[in-house]
Amino acid sequence: MKLNAVDNSVITDIKLAPQGHLKIDWVKAHMPVLNRIREQFEKEQPFKGLKVAISLHLEAKTAYLAKVVKAGGAEVTITGSNPLSTQDDVCAALVEDGITVFAKYNPDPEEYKELMVKTLETKPDLVIDDGGDLVSILHSERQDLLDQVRGGAEETTTGILRLKAMEKEGELKFPVVAVNDAFCKYLFDNRYGTGQSVWDGINRTTNLVVAGKTVVVVGYGWCGRGVAMRAKGLGANVIVTEVDAIKAVEAYMDGFQVMSMDEAAKLGDFFVTVTGNKDVIRGQHYKVMKDGAILSNAGHFDIEVNKPELEEQSSSIRTVRNNIEEYALKDGRKIYLLAEGRLVNLAAGDGHPAEIMDMTFALQAMSLKYVNEQYKNIGNKVESVPYELDEQVARIKLESLGINIDALSEEQKSYLESWSAH
Ligand SMILES: NC(=O)c1ccc[n+]([C@@H]2O[C@H](COP(=O)([O-])OP(=O)(O)OC[C@H]3O[C@@H](n4cnc5c(N)ncnc54)[C@H](O)[C@@H]3O)[C@@H](O)[C@H]2O)c1
Repeated sequence: MKLNAVDNSVITDIKLAPQGHLKIDWVKAHMPVLNRIREQFEKEQPFKGLKVAISLHLEAKTAYLAKVVKAGGAEVTITGSNPLSTQDDVCAALVEDGITVFAKYNPDPEEYKELMVKTLETKPDLVIDDGGDLVSILHSERQDLLDQVRGGAEETTTGILRLKAMEKEGELKFPVVAVNDAFCKYLFDNRYGTGQSVWDGINRTTNLVVAGKTVVVVGYGWCGRGVAMRAKGLGANVIVTEVDAIKAVEAYMDGFQVMSMDEAAKLGDFFVTVTGNKDVIRGQHYKVMKDGAILSNAGHFDIEVNKPELEEQSSSIRTVRNNIEEYALKDGRKIYLLAEGRLVNLAAGDGHPAEIMDMTFALQAMSLKYVNEQYKNIGNKVESVPYELDEQVARIKLESLGINIDALSEEQKSYLESWSAH
């Protein structure tokens, strides 16, 4: 039975749709790769007769991906992937466009989960997940819905870690394509996307200067590299903390100070966590921080900054600006936490630039088509994005930029492939 988007959706207010349509139109104009895929999907109808459930940060770029999947013939249902990153006007616009939406800005934790479960109760054939919550519910409390699912695609580092743990224990019951691990994802989205949008989120939320300040970037993975690079560009003194010796050397050679968190905690004006790990800033660190230190997180879950230990050391907590919580410590110092420790670029900003998500979501759309075609051959495992798809995204991107590159001549190819003495 087909779902009626208007009757079935759970959103805040359908009257917000006009603003949402404007937002979606704006990003669509800056997503040439996804536009090309939409044209292909319209002709080929790869998802005809299938149901697709999506859980992603529900803002305009995601909305456009949902519309592209629908243009490929799917019946699409969508929910958020973080309580604070859903935009109500975008949800309303999607409902008007015939997509069933179960999402609201800032639902309480119970309702957030309920909305996710409702999305799965539509019995999807394919899923797109961000952080692994949809897939995790399907494999735990809603195993009754597992049989129908052919496969999925996962957006982020944290989700892939969880999926690999499931695969290792033999628990994964359908194939999932690891979109995050494609070159056209992490090289651009994690690095340049997070690098720019984290500072957009922090700047618009705090309205403070970054130049001359000390920024501590916790974790020098793909996201951390971007955040540190852009902090330097804004004129900050940048400190990196790491647990991986190789990445620590890389950060040092990139020109950053590298030290332990115990040392960095005393020096930072701004802190940005991007590790995907828990408690990377915790009780012992709050004790030595400067008065006025500003903490934020860009990792997937709100567990990187240990909030309970910050609360324990505080005599009062109040909201001093939209998305800024002031923790007044018992010794008189104040520490500020942005966006409740949730992804600062999405909860206190609009996420990555459209041109970046163009490549990421092109990979999502192609990976979904790929898993639908190949799910029987792949088996129940975490599958890489095929290199040809990755390269295709890069080629369309270059074309859209009007950039030509060279091609190997036959002689060059055979030179590169030969092993005999040159
Ligand atoms: N905000 C966004 O828009 C966005 C975008 C992409 C990914 N993410 C999320 O950001 C997180 C990081 O992603 P990534 O792709 O950079 O991962 P990554 O694996 O490339 O990097 C994580 C780094 O953190 C380091 N680390 C782990 N524990 C640490 C600790 N206690 N102290 C210091 N460093 C530590 C690791 O050694 C690693 O170098 C993940 O949760 C991912 O899902 C967020």
